[in-house]
Amino acid sequence: MKLAIKGGKKSVTFPHPHFSWPLIEKEEIKAVTTYLQSRKPISIDGREGIYKELEDTIKKYFGVRYALLTNSGTTALHSAFFGVGIKPGDEVIAPTYTFLATVTPIFHCGGIPILCDAQTDTGNVDPKDIEERVTKKTKAIVVTHMLGHPVELDEICQIARRHKLFLIEDCSHAHGALYKEKKVGTFGDAACFSLQAQKIITAGEGGFLITNDREIYERAILLGHFRERCRQEVKLPFYKQFVDTGYGLKYRIHPLGAVIALVQFKKLDKWIKLRRETLNYFSKKLEGIPGIEPPETRTYVDRGAWYGYKPKYKPEELDNLPVQKYIKALQAEGVEIHKPGSKPLHLLPLFQIENDRMYGFTKKTYKRGDFPKAEKYYESILSLPTFTLPPERDIIDQYIEAFQKVANNIKELV
Ligand SMILES: Cc1ncc(COP(=O)(O)O)c(C=O)c1O
Repeated sequence: MKLAIKGGKKSVTFPHPHFSWPLIEKEEIKAVTTYLQSRKPISIDGREGIYKELEDTIKKYFGVRYALLTNSGTTALHSAFFGVGIKPGDEVIAPTYTFLATVTPIFHCGGIPILCDAQTDTGNVDPKDIEERVTKKTKAIVVTHMLGHPVELDEICQIARRHKLFLIEDCSHAHGALYKEKKVGTFGDAACFSLQAQKIITAGEGGFLITNDREIYERAILLGHFRERCRQEVKLPFYKQFVDTGYGLKYRIHPLGAVIALVQFKKLDKWIKLRRETLNYFSKKLEGIPGIEPPETRTYVDRGAWYGYKPKYKPEELDNLPVQKYIKALQAEGVEIHKPGSKPLHLLPLFQIENDRMYGFTKKTYKRGDFPKAEKYYESILSLPTFTLPPERDIIDQYIEAFQKVANNIKELV
């Protein structure tokens, strides 16, 4: 069959977009309307009402002592770094391949992000590289379970214990993901989740922090939840004197966001199951098609929320066709495919330029070539829709036709 880019018929006939998220269903709409009609507060100072309900749901889901809602995953991460006591000059080891917000809040505690390389198959942080970067100044490690795939937690928890470092998990892609049957977010000293609109469950904008540590929890409250919440819950003798001001920022989630997130939380496990089945179907069908390799998932993990579907391009199987030509041919077939947006952090100006006019703290700068495995992983991946719902299998079948057709006709493209 003739390629669409050469004037042939498109493989994918479904109209765009092929995937749309978040899923706002009638329950969310009803919950928000009912909340507003009943004149419940749209600003809440303490741990009560919808905040209490959602935090209790989160605590139960993860089996943890404390949960703190925030207005974003970014502020949850800032609260976690502040919570464990990162201060000027402390080094925090962090993946170069992650979303920027895993790392940028470290700057706002005066900490120095020490980036490290990735594993070339999952894109997750490489535990060996973490250990090599531990110094006397290291205070914490932050990891991201990229695209829902848990990092190598056995090794990383051991490194943290061995060097007496705090471990913070960024679980923004990994709600409900499992490492050896245990939920991610329950391995480190604190874990942060985003509830932004692209995440499997959402508040529109929002996030939360979970921990079993009283001091981390109280410090996180003090950072972003002054007055009532501090008065209610800050009990440690030293911190009690600051309850009226907290430490001065305001990181509260909007109550209506919390209303939406509570409804969504109840559907989390159902959506994880659907997404797992649908993306496994996609991966199975992609297997064996030259030029494309489904994402690697280790046998001892479950990706939970998944967040994104990013298979690898294998140009060596397609006469070394440049990736942009491959993408163009597939897009012409109607496939929604592109290069992922989030580059490894060391390739971005904030991590390369010494004088960034931010605070003037010392920072470590990086350049291309510093993390070859992360660069290689990033260069190899492609972004496809995170198909989730059963009817989307019909679209997947057409995508498979498109991938096969492009592979069959590669001679016309090189
Ligand atoms: C890995 C990771 N961490 C943190 C965040 C920040 O979350 P938010 O956008 O809610 O601030 C994101 C958002 O996409 C993310 O992907």
